[in-house]
Amino acid sequence: MAIHRLEMECAPGSSVDDMTTPQHKIGSGFGATSTAAEVLTGVDLTGKLALVTGGYSGIGLETTRVLAAAGAHVVVPARRRATAEEALTGIAGVEVDELDLADLDSVRAFADRFLASGRRIDILIASAGIMAAPETRVGPGWEAQFATNHLGHFALVNRLWPAIADGARVVMVSSRGHHFSGIRWDDVHFERGYDKWLAYGQAKTANVLFAVQLDALARDRVRAFALHPGRIFTPLVRHLDRQELLDAGIVDDAGNIAGESKTVEQGAATQVWAATSPLLDGMGGVYLDDCDIAEPAPAEDPETGVRARTGVRDYAIAPEEAAHLWALSAELTGENAFAPRS
Ligand SMILES: NC(=O)c1ccc[n+]([C@@H]2O[C@H](COP(=O)([O-])OP(=O)(O)OC[C@H]3O[C@@H](n4cnc5c(N)ncnc54)[C@H](OP(=O)(O)O)[C@@H]3O)[C@@H](O)[C@H]2O)c1
Repeated sequence: MAIHRLEMECAPGSSVDDMTTPQHKIGSGFGATSTAAEVLTGVDLTGKLALVTGGYSGIGLETTRVLAAAGAHVVVPARRRATAEEALTGIAGVEVDELDLADLDSVRAFADRFLASGRRIDILIASAGIMAAPETRVGPGWEAQFATNHLGHFALVNRLWPAIADGARVVMVSSRGHHFSGIRWDDVHFERGYDKWLAYGQAKTANVLFAVQLDALARDRVRAFALHPGRIFTPLVRHLDRQELLDAGIVDDAGNIAGESKTVEQGAATQVWAATSPLLDGMGGVYLDDCDIAEPAPAEDPETGVRARTGVRDYAIAPEEAAHLWALSAELTGENAFAPRS
């Protein structure tokens, strides 16, 4: 499919190159072991509306819990409404609706219902995602991880754009898995052979690039961030068998959680910090981890050719890649809140 040259306006008075936030730590005072509740200590979100995709499982559920406890009204759009309502039972200030990110009709219907409510979104956290799924095609034959993790969120945010409040933050939950792959421009839907980890990596790179371009386009009134939450044992691993969990160091021989895993309370901290920290005022378009701005990924070891999977890869924050992905995603989904008016 042809990818059109990007024809979009930048925010008035800004360009993609100015006001760029450096990709370096700022010293937040929080870290890898901080919990989401600690990040929100003393923060009052009364009167704020947050929308959390995937806000009924794993780190999304903890995110919903702490945002609501801080006073926010939290909208949780769910693929499995009954499951979401059960998971969120007893949490005050939460509202469940229906949304399947892999189905554009569902995305549009949810967004249009929300728009009709006349409310404004102050915090949008895109936590929903699938990982290492077997090859699955959705919609017009799209690869399911790219479609669910990226295209669904792309369409959702663009369709909801009139409801995104001035001063809002949009937070994309990416992953260290973005190190596995940049965008495969010549085969984004893996039509020439599927690899579930490359597909996850591409989709998670897309989450970062989306934040970079959204921030470039909207920074006069909305800022966007992407992040790696850490490694947390959640239902996200549903597509991995026991041997794969062992090989990845996620569980040990006895089936216990292994290695440097975070709890869900710690895993939700970076996205909550991204959504609320005053230290990030005036910043955006950057990738975070451990409740701070992440450093660039280290160079490859010249002797081994191995690169540590820490920090953010250049290809995930490159402005031209971000603009190119935006144009492709707009073309695929038919949604683009920033298209020039004809
Ligand atoms: N856990 C980790 O170690 C880790 C590491 C790095 C990055 N991440 C990222 O963190 C995010 C949250 O992961 P998690 O660990 O909290 O996983 P999780 O417990 O599996 O939660 C994922 C959520 O996404 C929802 N979802 C999946 N497909 C959807 C669709 N088509 N439409 C709407 N919602 C959909 C799931 O709904 P259902 O339950 O109904 O399927 C679930 O609520 C993901 O984006 C993941 O890539 C996690």
